[in-house]
Amino acid sequence: MNGYSANVLSCVLWEKERLMKILVTYYSKTGNTKAVAQAIYDALDLKALALEDKEITPVGEVDDTKEYSLIFCGFPVYAHSVPVPVQNFIKTLKPGTNLALFSTHGSKTDGQMPKEAIHHAVGLAKDANILGSFTCRGKVASEIIDDLMSKPEHKAWALEAQSAQGHPDQADLEDAHVFARGTLKKAIGFKDFTKK
Ligand SMILES: Cc1cc2nc3c(=O)[nH]c(=O)nc-3n(C[C@H](O)[C@H](O)[C@H](O)COP(=O)(O)O)c2cc1C
Repeated sequence: MNGYSANVLSCVLWEKERLMKILVTYYSKTGNTKAVAQAIYDALDLKALALEDKEITPVGEVDDTKEYSLIFCGFPVYAHSVPVPVQNFIKTLKPGTNLALFSTHGSKTDGQMPKEAIHHAVGLAKDANILGSFTCRGKVASEIIDDLMSKPEHKAWALEAQSAQGHPDQADLEDAHVFARGTLKKAIGFKDFTKK
């Protein structure tokens, strides 16, 4: 390789190292969390920052998390907590990973369930660098509501879940945009952001 080629190559590598590679990953059975993931992905306007690399991939299809400088990871709240595939994904993250969490849930946004689930996720990601979290409501499948309605001990929660119809709505998706942009700004503020 001549000197010129070597210089070009090192410039390319240097540029590549500077590039922020962002992953938006999610688990979603009925599409609510997927819609929020897509809103987050769409809001990451990397071109404006001369950064280009972003991906959106379901949690079960992510091969190697080490290459990402920032990961958004989303899940539906299940039984106050995090679905097992997402728990397993979070556990694979290398220490220091820049991580932002998001969830959808049938219960009200200011209730205990979404908080508990995010706390659980943060606990699993104990060596990650948590940049923030976002939650919004997601409609609950009618067969689940019918089932809950038939059990007196779950009736109150079933009634609450019913009012999640129509979510995530446009306002939720706009809130997700704001969350995505704010998280990106925070991530860029970290000095060692591009270091692998
Ligand atoms: C098995 C199961 C358990 C759930 N548990 C909770 C819960 O504990 N708290 C809650 O607020 N919502 C709960 N939900 C509602 C979902 O979190 C909500 O509908 C979510 O938006 C579904 O996301 P998805 O469409 O991405 O699958 C549960 C739903 C299912 C199917």
